[in-house]
Amino acid sequence: MYSPDQTKAIQKLTTGLMEKNAQGHITEKDIDTLREVLRFHEHRYYIMNDPLIADYEYDQLYKALDKLEQANPALRTSDSPTQRVAKELTKEFPTVSHLVPMLSLDNSYNADDLIDFDRRARELTRTNELEYCVEPKFDGASISLIYEKDMLVRGATRGNGVQGDDITTNIRQIRSIPLRANISKYGLEQIEIRGEVLMSKQNFKKYNDQLAEQNLPPLANPRNAAAGTLRIKDPKEVSKRNLEAFLYQVSHYTQLPNEILDNSLESHSGCLNMLWELGFRSPVKEKKVLKGIQAVIEYCHEFESQRDDLPYEIDGMVIKVNDIHQQEQLGMTTHHPRWAIAYKFKARQATSKLKAVEFQVGRTGSVTPVAKIDPVPIGGVTVGSISLFNEEVIRDKDLMIGDTVLVERAGDVIPYIVKSLPELRNGGEKKIEFPTHCPVCGDKLEKPEEEAVWRCSNINCEAQVVERIIHFTSKDAMDIRGLGEANIRKFYTLGFLKDVPGIYQLPFDKIGTLEGFGKKSITNLQTAIENSKAQPIHRLIFALGIRYVGETTAKTLAHAVKHLLELKDYSLEDLLKLEDIGPKVAGSVHQFFHNWDNIETLQKLEALGLKLKNDKRDLSTGGNLSGQTFLFTGTLPTLKRSDAEAMVEANGGKLLSSVSANLNYLVAGEEAGSKLEKAKKITSIKIITEAEFLSLIHH
Ligand code: IVH
Repeated sequence: MYSPDQTKAIQKLTTGLMEKNAQGHITEKDIDTLREVLRFHEHRYYIMNDPLIADYEYDQLYKALDKLEQANPALRTSDSPTQRVAKELTKEFPTVSHLVPMLSLDNSYNADDLIDFDRRARELTRTNELEYCVEPKFDGASISLIYEKDMLVRGATRGNGVQGDDITTNIRQIRSIPLRANISKYGLEQIEIRGEVLMSKQNFKKYNDQLAEQNLPPLANPRNAAAGTLRIKDPKEVSKRNLEAFLYQVSHYTQLPNEILDNSLESHSGCLNMLWELGFRSPVKEKKVLKGIQAVIEYCHEFESQRDDLPYEIDGMVIKVNDIHQQEQLGMTTHHPRWAIAYKFKARQATSKLKAVEFQVGRTGSVTPVAKIDPVPIGGVTVGSISLFNEEVIRDKDLMIGDTVLVERAGDVIPYIVKSLPELRNGGEKKIEFPTHCPVCGDKLEKPEEEAVWRCSNINCEAQVVERIIHFTSKDAMDIRGLGEANIRKFYTLGFLKDVPGIYQLPFDKIGTLEGFGKKSITNLQTAIENSKAQPIHRLIFALGIRYVGETTAKTLAHAVKHLLELKDYSLEDLLKLEDIGPKVAGSVHQFFHNWDNIETLQKLEALGLKLKNDKRDLSTGGNLSGQTFLFTGTLPTLKRSDAEAMVEANGGKLLSSVSANLNYLVAGEEAGSKLEKAKKITSIKIITEAEFLSLIHH
């Protein structure tokens, strides 16, 4: 797409613009260059996965462009990088017809199926050996894009294959889809392209963590997450979910008058290369052009073994006859083309028997049904327990004790029940009765109308107390290693530990007499407990287990105060003014800090030596790292990455997301990879250890 010379030239323009911007000298004369430069960097980031500038620097240039365009609306263009985000809500997604129907693929599951496919295709084309293009089968939501006169004019869902929904506004939020593509360079006036919208495994996990913070059931898999996101009516929300797209098929085109056909369009691999050159993320690196079916089979196996290492989900490979003339010769059925076939990987699914449903009481009193199934191995892990989240899930999936159920575990995703198989029932199945009373303390369960979860509202319920202590000590909260779930339960039963402050008053003399508690383990436990007293207050806030307050909200709250107890003077309005805090969260936080028991607990914790003061906040003006830029790579020996990053910001430093000449410090931990290599080549970057980083701060 960009030659090395072009890249160099644009880099030079970038530096020029950055300097100009820093001096406040950017004018509307720079608007076109700014757009060109920003487009280039989007391509490096979203398509090549190899950014040449830091996020922060990109943001500065983006803001400069946005400001200029706002001041001069006449100079704004619809393909400007600023014009992805729509401010209005989408009313509806109109139905539109695809230029060419979006067909399905025939499936194959083993080498024999592929050999059959190859034999039929060779017979129909009367060839001895066919050339195939083999590429991943992306597991997302399929889309169809139309570009006319170099501009993206429409994006649609697959729908029923003939007609889909016009989701152009949402498609524009996907930063790996260019708003403009120079198709006229290939002699084309219009092109229809097919592809798949994906949510990366990492973003999927982040998204599900957010849902969990709100007590909502997680989405089953990245495919559902991608498909669901495309249907959201708020484009801003779509933008936040960071969808990605792979484009893998040219389904239709019209030529400009008097143009001869570009020979890229004569083979499938040529089309993929053309798409890449046009600025699309097409699977050029992942695809392989191979002669004969044996080589195809080998490549499929090779790719399957790497499946878990990919940042996104794939569910197989797609094998396409490479030559477009041969494709035309083979034609299609009403269902699928005869020139392509999907090779499906082994599903990470299994069937098992639903033996029982247990009801677990969480730290907020929520009662979660957990399915106990006959243990089955899925994707290398034995699954025996599966959360069902709430009563609705049981009803929606029509689950009964004794049912055969289909269980899936996709990638690193937690296992879930896809469905029951009612066809296999024998009449002996039993209805799942949701308890009316808490299975632990016997109190009556309650369910507020707007919620899906039943709750035990006895805050002294043993289950809640124990779960609260477990949460308090957990890794992302106060991180008290060595205390652990089993010990907490044991100490609770023995009467050694009855609430959170009790953690800091454990009777070690008595614990020392228990089996399995030697001197060393006691000292370790004491040190871990002692160290936790100095944890930053955002961890303490998260550890308190306030409903709807996850790690992100905890940080927002921590940032707002100099001392944790200031939160008791916050009104609902004050809370709502904080970033990303809505009425639900504000209500819950307000309630927590207006409950005297909670305040007393916090005062007790402070008296026991826990830090409730926000010392980072005191440093946030100025700070030791002021004006310096940092980037972390590899695993740090003691600090959590997010905490180290927070320390940089709290001390006035800036974080960069990639190695560039603007970076002052690279903090390298264990197994630092390419960033370290890259940084070594830039002499101005100081490469330091975690210890050196800490001494910079405490200097
Ligand atoms: S080609 C006419 N290539 O799989 C050929 N499809 O099961 C149409 N898919 O609806 C499809 N990766 O959503 C093709 N590299 C790939 C693909 C792919 C994923 C999806 C696509 C299609 C479904 C068929």
